[in-house]
This record gives sequence, C-alpha cells and structure tokens, in this order.
Amino acid sequence: MTPTALEAFIAETTVRSRRQADPADCVLALAPLMLDLIDQAGTFLEPSHYRSSVQGYTRNLIYDAPDASLSLYSIVWLPGQWTPVHDHGSWGVVGVVEGVLEERSYVRLSPDRGTDEQIDLARGGTVLLRHGAVTSFVPNPDHIHVTGVPDERPRAVSLHLYGRTMNDFNIYDVRSRTRRRIHVAHNES
Ligand SMILES: [Fe+2]
Repeated sequence: MTPTALEAFIAETTVRSRRQADPADCVLALAPLMLDLIDQAGTFLEPSHYRSSVQGYTRNLIYDAPDASLSLYSIVWLPGQWTPVHDHGSWGVVGVVEGVLEERSYVRLSPDRGTDEQIDLARGGTVLLRHGAVTSFVPNPDHIHVTGVPDERPRAVSLHLYGRTMNDFNIYDVRSRTRRRIHVAHNES
C-alpha cells in the first residue's frame, strides 16, 4: 500500500531526526520536508485539525511519537489570537497552511542561569509567514517569541513539528523578568 503524504512525512522525519544529533542540523534536514508537506495538507488534514475556539488559539494533535521524540500539531489562529511570550525546550519546524502567521521574536540579554528570575528580554524583529512558508528554531539558548494573528487579518492555520511531545514549556513575563512552566493538554491552547 502506498503511504499517505502524512505517513511518508512521519517516516522520513523519524529517520532524519534520529540521524541528526545537533538540533541545528536536524531542522536543516527537516525544513524541506515541511515545505513539501504543506503542499499535501489538503490530503490529510481532517475537520478535527481545523478546530478553533474563541477562547484562544487551538492546538490540534496530528501525530505524537510513541517514544515522545516527535510531535506534529495543527494550530488554528483566529483573528487577534496570540501566544504568550514562550520558548519550546526543543527544536521546531513550522509551516503555514493558510493565512499569514506573524512571529515576533525576543532576544535574551541576560545569561541563562537556569533560574526563572532576572530574565531580561528585548523585543526583536517580526516575520510574516504566508501560506507555503517554513520557519524553524533550535533550543539552547531557547528561541523565545510570540506568534499569532493580528485583529485585522483572517484565520491562519499552521503545522508545528517539535522534537518532543510539546505538553509543557516556559512562558515569560517580560515586565517582571520571570518565567514559569505551563502544562498544556493536546487539544487545548
Ligand atoms: Fe512557539
């Protein structure tokens, strides 16, 4: 039986991510796969992957590796929905299926002492990612950013591949210079 586009993507992603110990090499190897996967999104995305909520952006699980080494989500962003300032503790590859996803970066000025306080962040640049665009990031130091869709733009849908099950990550309070760990369920923001 011919594998579906999603099955082929998962199989190849698993092979390549195991082959690359360095996260920077890993995202280099995986970004082209995401670029191709976006073109095939119509063949495997189901109505459940387009779930959204007026409460906030919605993460819909597509694939979670049995050993928790990979996960793939669709995220649906309604106008005006944004993440908090956050990191990932993992490499990640993101592709945009619909709309324009905006990413606003933060630059960490203080050294990472492994504590949750005295964290100085400066606002960095922004990127606007249209349908078909792929972006990626690596940890250590963690990539810290805000992602979302401004009020004036329509819904966006994006695919997010991470190097672990993404059920917890840090969110930052820039003003108080602190961060805290949050735990999220698969189908919730
Ligand atoms: Fe993120």
